[in-house]
Parts: sequence; structure tokens; C-alpha cells
Amino acid sequence: MTKKKFDVIVVGELNVDLILNSIDSFPEMGKEKIAKNMNLTLGSSSAIFASNLSSLGAQVGFIGKIGNDAFGNLVKDSLSAKKVNTDMLITSDKWNTGVTIVLNYEEDRAMVTYPGAMEHLTMNDISEEVISTAKHLHFSSYFLQPGIQKDITKLFKMTKEKGLTTSLDIQWDPNEKWDFNYKEVLPFVDVFLPNEQEALLLTNESILENAINKLVQHSKYVVVKLGSKGSITATKDKRNFIKSFLNDKVVDAIGAGDSFNAGFIFKFINGCDIDECQIFGNLTGAINTTAAGGTTAFENYEQIIKIGKEKFGYKN
Ligand SMILES: Nc1ncnc2c1ncn2[C@@H]1O[C@H](COP(=O)(O)OP(=O)(O)O)[C@@H](O)[C@H]1O
Ligand SMILES: [Mg+2]
Repeated sequence: MTKKKFDVIVVGELNVDLILNSIDSFPEMGKEKIAKNMNLTLGSSSAIFASNLSSLGAQVGFIGKIGNDAFGNLVKDSLSAKKVNTDMLITSDKWNTGVTIVLNYEEDRAMVTYPGAMEHLTMNDISEEVISTAKHLHFSSYFLQPGIQKDITKLFKMTKEKGLTTSLDIQWDPNEKWDFNYKEVLPFVDVFLPNEQEALLLTNESILENAINKLVQHSKYVVVKLGSKGSITATKDKRNFIKSFLNDKVVDAIGAGDSFNAGFIFKFINGCDIDECQIFGNLTGAINTTAAGGTTAFENYEQIIKIGKEKFGYKN
């Protein structure tokens, strides 16, 4: 087999996060407040996944849409800094780069998102030739990308026909309608990666076992993330719960699910057995919670293994 350029191509949403901390008091119409602290960083769960997978050592390329603006440059530079290939990013002249403004008040936060260019990524932007340059395709954040929703089955079917393995994390639906035809899409998905709540809402079930029973009829592996409890991997005839490497001093859980995905898929594309993928996903999810934001805790594979052994008793 000829060597592929990429281990993984990520198709997903891209935006920046503008985070304001220590604000005087809640916003009020017609008034101005002062925040004592501000941070502008790469946001989006697809970007966290791509960055951390790249830090672990995979060759990762990204297909996504940004605007022809300063935030677009920030997205591109941040991905490049993590050695994610940005040659396939599409720059829109019509739409600005997406941004989420986060106003933090102690435990709580208010957020406003302008999705911008990310909503306008379509199947026309993704060619068979480009997909064929990778061994694996990961898609994330279905509900944030209306431009691609009607073609999601087409994308996964084409990808399987080109001989790639595939993974999908649909993420939260801001409209809470959960209109996703999993019966049609999942037959072309090798690894489906919802969290517990998403699995329940998608299947309209209130008991996780029932949700898993429904999902697993269609996908090879259903991997459900259970927050600080750990995760379950299900195949048609097996359920495997593995408890987390519990971190009881969580800095924040931003991106924990994406980091879990990165660890799981890193082992998966390296041909490891599925238990090992799940354990490593639990580890990278836990390590994510030891530092602020979604990518801070990830330098390289050796450092992840070192933290894993020292802090969490990981054995590889
Ligand atoms: N407090 C924690 N301690 C250890 N691991 C955690 C903790 N919180 C999350 N994780 C790990 O991260 C994974 C993903 O987190 P979860 O919150 O379930 O996903 P999502 O961010 O998609 O909602 C979990 O399955 C678990 O392995
Ligand atoms: Mg998630």
C-alpha cells in the first residue's frame, strides 16, 4: 500500500473563544463594565481534537471554513503551532470567522456565539481526492454545521468507499431538537463517540442501556463518555465499562470529551485493541482536566505517558 499523507483528516467547525474573567457585575443595557482578565484563544471542539491528536504524534490535516480576517489567521496559526496541516482550510470572503464571547462569573458563564464561516462548509468543499490522502476521517459538531447536514451520510459513505476508517462525535445540539438520522449515518461510522446525555437525547431514551442497544445496531463501536465516571465501549454483543483515571482536582473540563476522542482515535489508528483505545481515551480525558482549556495539558506522547504514570498510575 502506498503511504498516505495523513493519518487523520478532521472535518469540523472552527472558531475563536474570547473569554472575559473577573467582570465587575452582570452586563446591563446601556452600561459599561470592566473585566480584569481577558483571553483570546482557539476554540471549537474539532480544533481541540485535531491539536491534541497531532501532539500525540499523528499526522493530522483539517478541513474547515474560516473568514478572511484576523480571527481566521489566529485559527490557522494556532493549528499550525500544533503541527496540524492547514493547507485544506477554506477561507471565505463572504463570512467572518466564528467567535464565541464567554463572560465568566465564578461558577457560571454567559456565552454568545457568532458561527460565521463554519456554517457554510459544504460537501462541495470536500473532494474524494483529498479524502483519499488520509487513513482515517473524524467529523465533529454536526449541529453547528448546517451546510453539511444534508450530506452527512454521503460524506461518510464516500469515505468508507475510499477505504478509510471513520469516527464521529456529533456533540451538543444548541437547538435541542436532536434531529440526526443515526440509523442512516452510523453504518458508515466505525467509532461513534457521544457523551451520555447526547446518547440519550439522540435515541429518545431515559436509560443508557436502552440508548446503547439502539445505537449499537448501526455502528461498529459505540463509545459513550460518562464524565468523571469513565466510559463504555459497546459492540453488538459486548459492553465494556472502564472507570476513569479520576482527577479530583479538576481545573476545568473544557475539551475533556475531545481529548478523550484524541486518545482513543490515536490508539485506534495504530491498530491497538479496543480496550487499549478506551483506556488511553480515559487517560487523555483525565489529563485534559489537569490544566486550563482543552489543549494546554498536551505537549507530546512521552509527556502524556509520564503524567499518566506519575499522576494516574497508568501502565502502558
Ligand atoms: N474529573 C475527571 N477525572 C478523570 N477523568 C475525567 C474527568 N472528567 C472527564 N474525564 C474523562 O474525560 C472523558 C470525557 O468527558 P465527558 O465530560 O464525558 O465528555 P464531553 O466533554 O464530551 O461531555 C470521560 O469519559 C472521562 O474519561
Ligand atoms: Mg463532547
